[in-house]
Amino acid sequence: MNLTFTDEQQMMQRMVHQFAEEKVQPETARMEREDRFPAEIVREMGELGLMGIPIPEKYGGAGMDVTSYILAIHEISRVSAALGVILSVHTSVGTYPILDFGTDAQKEHYLPKLASGEYLGAFALSESGAGSDAAAMKTTAVKKGDSYVLNGSKMWITNGGAADTYIVFAKTAPDKGSRGITAFIVEKDMPGFHVLPREKKMGLHGSYTTPLSFEDLHVPEANRLGQEGEGFRIAMSNLDAGRIGIAAQALGIAEGALDAAAAYAKERKQFGRPIGDMQGIAFKLADMAVRVEAAKLLTYRAADLRTRGEKAGKEASMAKLFASETAMSTAIEAVQIFGGYGYTEDYPVERFFRDAKVTQIYEGTSEIQRIVLSKHMLKHT
Ligand code: CAA
Ligand code: FAD
Repeated sequence: MNLTFTDEQQMMQRMVHQFAEEKVQPETARMEREDRFPAEIVREMGELGLMGIPIPEKYGGAGMDVTSYILAIHEISRVSAALGVILSVHTSVGTYPILDFGTDAQKEHYLPKLASGEYLGAFALSESGAGSDAAAMKTTAVKKGDSYVLNGSKMWITNGGAADTYIVFAKTAPDKGSRGITAFIVEKDMPGFHVLPREKKMGLHGSYTTPLSFEDLHVPEANRLGQEGEGFRIAMSNLDAGRIGIAAQALGIAEGALDAAAAYAKERKQFGRPIGDMQGIAFKLADMAVRVEAAKLLTYRAADLRTRGEKAGKEASMAKLFASETAMSTAIEAVQIFGGYGYTEDYPVERFFRDAKVTQIYEGTSEIQRIVLSKHMLKHT
């Protein structure tokens, strides 16, 4: 594995770092307070080419590699995890399925709009009764003429209400389990598509999470993604890539919390000296730094495999599991280092603490990552 970023990757890192500090940072307090989708920032990200970083130039993307894209999510999430997940869901699971499994007509129609940021993407797999057990979904799609009629509902959909396109999974053959699931590209204006009121969440304020309801939603056959019955494989293989994005988001949260805690430990004085001079605090910082570095190596290892066009399902799960656990433990310790001030909204660590939690839950909980990883291990013994 090459541990040095190329000139192009470093350029992306610098550009997004500057954008996050200058444009995103000043907006975080308002996003937190109002829990409103940051439409203006997302528009600017489109203008900078950040909404289609790994999408080929012939489809209007920046044509850069997966590592550059992961660097962008990492840098944005250091400042705003909410914006990090908006970008990750839009790109990894909202756009990639069309690139990987779409027809030429679907790619030509949707990719330029998504890559430019004109359209925002979303991914609708989970349901109220089917989260970890995604194949237990109840939404159905019945073929009628040259359309499919979808009925059912989805839950927890990131970018819900803000997105223009949704990759929706439904059962076309309910008796066939995971082999009876089909994927569709659904547009927000299709009749029968409804966005329900958004969830009030512990964190990620500014990132919308909504249920969706489908009442005789007519989706043209031309919007079926892949073959009938191929949907679960499409979902799972896209989550392989998506999980690297969430690992990068978790890494950004962990690094943001560590940087804030280290700076505070140098400034805050008790007993006549900086708290960082006390071994109880200094050792915490050392342990946090080791975990963050390990999370970084796992995340960029998985990204590098994808950049080289190799499979990375196992490595993505390892990165997602370790980086999300690191985000949580680092944020907990950061609040501790800030003492009472860490428990207030005056400092960002309480936000990192709340935002970190969900990285252990979505795109497959920590328990599900362990299932995926143990399946990989046992397959080869
Ligand atoms: N790539 C391609 N195909 C795959 C695959 C992969 N990574 N993993 C499994 N499959 C295929 C299998 O080969 C199998 O195919 P066949 O029937 O042809 O043999 C089929 O899928 C079923 O596989 P399993 O029997 O292993 O499936 P399962 O029902 O036991 O489920 C699971 C496995 C790993 C638990 C899966 O359900 C899972 O990943 N659950 C978590 C769901 C999840 O991550 N949801 C995320 C929603 S998106 C989101 O959360 C976005 C966000 O927050 C920001
Ligand atoms: P459950 O599956 O009910 O799990 C409950 C607990 O049981 C968990 O601790 C879990 O790990 C454990 N558990 C379940 N099965 C097992 C097992 N076999 N072994 C051991 N432990 C197990 N979904 C989308 O489709 N699109 C999105 O854009 C999206 N965005 C989201 C955004 C947010 C903010 C949140 C909170 C969720 C989002 N999700 C999205 C849904 C997310 O992927 C699910 O919440 C997640 O997969 C877990 O499903 P669940 O909530 O139903 O929990």
